[in-house]
Amino acid sequence: MPHVEAECRAGELVETAFAKVNLALHVRKRRPDGYHALESLFVFAEAGDRLAGHVRPDGMISLRVEGPFAQMLDAGPDNLVMKAACALRFHVGKEDGAALVLTKNLPVASGIGGGSADAAAALRLLMRLWDVSIAPETLEQIALSLGSDVPACLSSVTQMVSGRGEVLQRQTIPGLAGMPMLLVNPGVGVSTARIFGGWDQVDRGALAASDLRQLVEAGRNDLEPPAMAVAPVIGEVLSGLRSCEGVAMARMSGSGATCFALFDTERDLVAAATSLREGHPQWWIAETRIRSA
Ligand code: C5P
Repeated sequence: MPHVEAECRAGELVETAFAKVNLALHVRKRRPDGYHALESLFVFAEAGDRLAGHVRPDGMISLRVEGPFAQMLDAGPDNLVMKAACALRFHVGKEDGAALVLTKNLPVASGIGGGSADAAAALRLLMRLWDVSIAPETLEQIALSLGSDVPACLSSVTQMVSGRGEVLQRQTIPGLAGMPMLLVNPGVGVSTARIFGGWDQVDRGALAASDLRQLVEAGRNDLEPPAMAVAPVIGEVLSGLRSCEGVAMARMSGSGATCFALFDTERDLVAAATSLREGHPQWWIAETRIRSA
């Protein structure tokens, strides 16, 4: 029995909030509502935050945040986990409570969907805990009301995402599942709204991604230039990743500042992580794999 499960108290349920990675992100146009129409291939890492919860008989919803990045995050009503819990309870018209504990392993405001993945994990966990079923369209609407990436995080499978983030299409790219992936964050938080606001409004074309090669050659992240203008260290992360042995591709995820690299082998992944950690002990560096689900 795994250690964490052995520690679970009776009636406690656990969900992983898998890190989201945009293998490519094409911004097509600014919409009248202020959001941007985008096309993105989302994959999910095996790494993530951990959300645990049990029923509170007094009907209260409470949240405690712990873990390496807990100090960056408020556990109050603005926390996306709390917002998700309140939105779900409102929709199902229940008065059940929950005691939730979020272990924040992922850096905050870092382009790998931490908050969105936490919100989606909260919806999944509370549906199980409160034993509610909800129509998929309604669930997606609740998810979208919490954030553009939350609908995709509900399933946490590889998918093409378009619209503002709500048009989802499952995608299979041969060889991608299980691929070794390194996530690197240089310790600067960036505001998603600010980075989208810095996009130069040039539509550089649609995203086509049926195989990895096409994704590498024709894919891009249109938010890299505005993110690098705000946080030039992102350029240093990308060149560090691209100079590693066995890199299939390296790019920024979301609005940054986290960048990722995919590797041909586990051995190359470990060697890259070791050498980057030596050169940059202050960077957050996580060795993981692309989820196969
Ligand atoms: O939806 P979410 O709250 O995650 O988005 C944060 C901010 O990112 C939005 O307020 C908006 O400024 C920007 N954004 C955007 N276009 C998207 C998604 C997010 O402009 N498709």
